[in-house]
Amino acid sequence: MKSLLKVGVLTGGGDCPGLNAVIRAIVRRADERNLEVMGIRDGYAGLVEERHERLTRRRVSGILHLGGTILGTSRYNPLAAPEGVEAVRRAMRRLGLDALIAIGGEGTLSIARRLHEAEIPVVGVPKTIDNDLGGTDFTFGFDTAVQIATDAIDRLHSTAESHQRVMVVEVMGRHVGWIAAYAGLAGGADAILVPERPTTIDQVVEHVERRRRAGKRFSIIVCAEGAAVDLGEGVKVVSRGYDQWGHLKLGGVAHEVASAIEARTGLETRVTVLGYVQRGGAPTAYDRVLATRFGIHAADLVARREWGMMAALRGNRIVSTPLEEATRSLKTLDPEIYEAASVFFG
Ligand code: F6P
Repeated sequence: MKSLLKVGVLTGGGDCPGLNAVIRAIVRRADERNLEVMGIRDGYAGLVEERHERLTRRRVSGILHLGGTILGTSRYNPLAAPEGVEAVRRAMRRLGLDALIAIGGEGTLSIARRLHEAEIPVVGVPKTIDNDLGGTDFTFGFDTAVQIATDAIDRLHSTAESHQRVMVVEVMGRHVGWIAAYAGLAGGADAILVPERPTTIDQVVEHVERRRRAGKRFSIIVCAEGAAVDLGEGVKVVSRGYDQWGHLKLGGVAHEVASAIEARTGLETRVTVLGYVQRGGAPTAYDRVLATRFGIHAADLVARREWGMMAALRGNRIVSTPLEEATRSLKTLDPEIYEAASVFFG
């Protein structure tokens, strides 16, 4: 029987645990819905360069628990070129694709939204460990990143206590503090620095000093890479220049915070930057389930031709939401979570 539609699947932006679970679920549901699935290599770059492979049940067998993405990913933006939309349209025609499923974060889904506005049939799946996409309560990958960061904080606790040191741990979170707040809350952090709540170094030092007065000479400070910290010269974000896509490379704020704490308190202070370990490796059970449900929903959106929509989580239900809503504004940290974490500061 001839398939109903031929759909291309791509993964874009930073990788994230659970991407393979989404791909597998799309392929399995597509089988039931009589859709043919083509995997596009390396995000939108592979689309305009027409690099693809047929995704069969056999090809996606055994990938549920694997980190990364079997399709590869990139931050390539086809719409950066003036003829970008036409290049995408041409590539889809040549590949015989009727529709696209874009799995990605803010960048990837904003491109998908613009393709939809140009009447290219596309649906989305929200992905980011940072959990900063609108339209969905949570994205897959976030739970895994929080678990990895929490495990690290637990380990830092015991060595901090043995050596009576202050430990500053830097986690991911470009524009938002979801990972920092959840992992800090779960790991019992003594202060949490996030982009949404500008904090002065005086406040951090006060938390450390209050603990010292209570007889505790060790502290754990969790810091998002994009934390807004005033180290004495106003709030600034610490970065290391730009990558090839013009994307600011964050990282290093923990070193500045640690130097200031050590200088001000005299307590030995050490830094751990978790970096990419938060994005690598197997997804948690929660993320496997969420990613699978998103993948099934995305295949259903294609079968129903509900273009311009994205799978999303509301409460415990998987729903459809317009790509426009998901990309309109960043989902910043829930203040209630930060307030709960701050009960334990100092
Ligand atoms: O968007 C997720 C994220 O993990 C951010 O927190 C981080 O700043 C960024 O990716 C780094 O990604 P890369 O170095 O791969 O561009």
